[in-house]
Amino acid sequence: LDDPAADPFEIARRAAARIAELTGAEHHDVALTLGSGWGRTAEFLGETTHEIAATEVPGFTASAVVGHAGTLRSVLLPDGRRALVIGARTHYYEGYGVRRVAHSVRTAAAAGATTMILTNGAGGIREHWAAGTPVLISDHINLTADSPLEGATFVDLTDLYSARLRAVAREVDPGLEEGVYVQFRGPHYETPAEVRMARTIGGDIVGMSTALEAIAAREAGMEVLGLSLITNLAAGIQATPLSHEEVLEAGRAAEPVIGAMLARIIAAI
Ligand code: 6GU
Repeated sequence: LDDPAADPFEIARRAAARIAELTGAEHHDVALTLGSGWGRTAEFLGETTHEIAATEVPGFTASAVVGHAGTLRSVLLPDGRRALVIGARTHYYEGYGVRRVAHSVRTAAAAGATTMILTNGAGGIREHWAAGTPVLISDHINLTADSPLEGATFVDLTDLYSARLRAVAREVDPGLEEGVYVQFRGPHYETPAEVRMARTIGGDIVGMSTALEAIAAREAGMEVLGLSLITNLAAGIQATPLSHEEVLEAGRAAEPVIGAMLARIIAAI
């Protein structure tokens, strides 16, 4: 993937073939990327039949981030469909480049998935959102100044976060909050001034993932659903300093609730 002459889609096809070989499943129907706080929600979805170390699959790197599993799982859903659960997200801030960021999404598409569910732990900008609140992503603002697309690939991003899938999610949880996700590069959290800027330009939640992956998923022709778990309020909005441990703890507390919600959403897709 680091060789500019290599074709990232060819490597994604090889990764998908390896997953098919290791799982015996020729086809996965839906893919789910687990963000901070969402790690154990996969247990609520169905039966994990195979768990693969990311390092076994071409193009994937072992995650350096505490709280990120570094595995790919094949989960048999109650209705017989198969979910590819990606616990091995490569973040933009890791510095491996956008191809690595997009690779898991492209692999999921090559494995047959037509729905891409992207989850993350994020900071809330609205004062009334407490840690543990799940938020449906309605749209994003990409502040990385980068794109996973190469060359003259002009992709339309209207309705990137599928209105159809958002309606499905709201049917499952009518009280589900909704907001615009702002992807910063990270890995530092924002300054209070940057959080004010994010709010001024129309953001509701701030994070370090998802937007670039969503663009790659749209390019691959997938339907995208984005879900954030508010793990803390953003800098300047909450009084105490931010910590990664706090992010993980909010996730642990919310897991049963968001896991059950995720299972019902996937069943209804
Ligand atoms: Cl406050 N900012 C960013 N960029 N990512 C986060 C976060 C904040 N809280 C959890 N993840």
